[in-house]
Amino acid sequence: MAETIRKSRDVHIVTHIDADGISAGAIAAKTLKRLGKEYSLECVKQLDEMVLKRLLDENHGLVWFTDLGSGVSTSYPEINKVITDHHMCPNDSDFSFHLNPHLFGRDGSYDMSGAGATYLVAKAMDKKNVDLSALAIVGACGDLQDKKFCKLSGTNREILKDGEKAGVLLGRMDIRYFGRETRPIAKLLQYSNDPFIPGLSRREDACISFLQDCGIRLKDDDYWRKWIDLEKKERQKIISAIAQILLTKGFGYNIAERLVGEIYILKNEEQGTELHDAKEFATLLNSTARYGQHEVGLNVCLGDRDEWLKKARNLLRGHRANLVEGLQFAKEEEIQKRTFLQFFHAKDGIRDTIIGIVTNMLLSSEDVDNSLPLMGFAYTENGDVKVSARATQVLIDKGLNLSSALKQAAKELGGAGGGHDIAAGATIPKGKEEEFIKLVEKEIKNQLVL
Ligand code: C5P
Ligand code: C5P
Ligand code: ZN
Repeated sequence: MAETIRKSRDVHIVTHIDADGISAGAIAAKTLKRLGKEYSLECVKQLDEMVLKRLLDENHGLVWFTDLGSGVSTSYPEINKVITDHHMCPNDSDFSFHLNPHLFGRDGSYDMSGAGATYLVAKAMDKKNVDLSALAIVGACGDLQDKKFCKLSGTNREILKDGEKAGVLLGRMDIRYFGRETRPIAKLLQYSNDPFIPGLSRREDACISFLQDCGIRLKDDDYWRKWIDLEKKERQKIISAIAQILLTKGFGYNIAERLVGEIYILKNEEQGTELHDAKEFATLLNSTARYGQHEVGLNVCLGDRDEWLKKARNLLRGHRANLVEGLQFAKEEEIQKRTFLQFFHAKDGIRDTIIGIVTNMLLSSEDVDNSLPLMGFAYTENGDVKVSARATQVLIDKGLNLSSALKQAAKELGGAGGGHDIAAGATIPKGKEEEFIKLVEKEIKNQLVL
């Protein structure tokens, strides 16, 4: 694969619109740049027939698909391509141009991300590209690959080791909540969702009183203290108090244990910024490409710390507001329960590009019964319906596979779907929602019985 890339003159990168996609695209772009090659890059929501036909017409020397493409690896042989992806895929692929953990019997939902697969190719092309491991870890965190074990595992750990050796990354144990570097402590707790803290999550006043009861100073003059500003003793006190709440509410040791896990620092970035923590970096990227502004995230990944970063931070404010609003909207929509799944329909109330994030957050909140998978529907600009489905590890262990269920159900209705066992998506024609639900239920029923 490295050889094919090296030999090609004009390379067109096609990547996905999320944080992993942008990180993967940036790794590919930087690798080509370092080789002195011409390249172009585009971001797509999904790789459908329309995109593929256009790519065929555009007649690029080589198309490098990153964080997508595995599903179509055997179609369109006329397109000269390489694929670095991690979505579930058929096993009949030609390894010479396709890298995906599933082809090695590994699970792409936590072993390696699209950025990770792209990084391995970059490293194979030139050992000097090991510094790009930082972006690979940002991509993995963007796809929540640390969620299963509260730390990265499998190939991701090898990539982390590369980064630590190269001096660009550091993994260490800390609280797993989002916003350690940039959020006032009360906000970090208010927006906590894995684990959700009954009585505190989503309740600003309760978080403030809780911290005051723990004897934590919220401000130094006008400055709101962040998690990283706290002393070790203060951090330990908060963690023990939250664990206590979880245990007394009957959540059990397994849940309380999820409070602490491995977090990833990008050592060359400034402390106290969104770029210093891999999860926060990933959210910054999600704020760009999911709103049609992928070039903003891409330029930040490629090293801009000036105008593009400023733009990204502005977009981040909008993204945060959209998530809060989307979550509120979804909560007000009634969640309808069926035998094998539950769902809500946001119609035009939530953007199709963030319905997956909202569905995810909702499933980990106390408002939703997590013994059933959750599907969120939203209308797209093209007049179709986007579906995002999420489940818990407990259901996966029972045999649930959302990727194959959604793929099959969407296919029967003339749509397309796929993803991972624990998180999948699909696009289906408008008006087919009820039929889709029934088909997905049928698939899930079979999976759980088998
Ligand atoms: O397209 P892609 O593979 O990049 O997206 C992965 C999706 O899977 C993310 O939206 C992430 O939130 C979700 N995921 C999850 N739970 C996991 C692993 C991934 O919800 N344990
Ligand atoms: O969009 P969402 O975050 O719900 O996607 C969940 C997972 O399903 C992602 O890995 C995404 O790439 C995948 N997906 C897919 N085909 C679709 C929609 C989503 O493979 N049509
Ligand atoms: Zn991905």
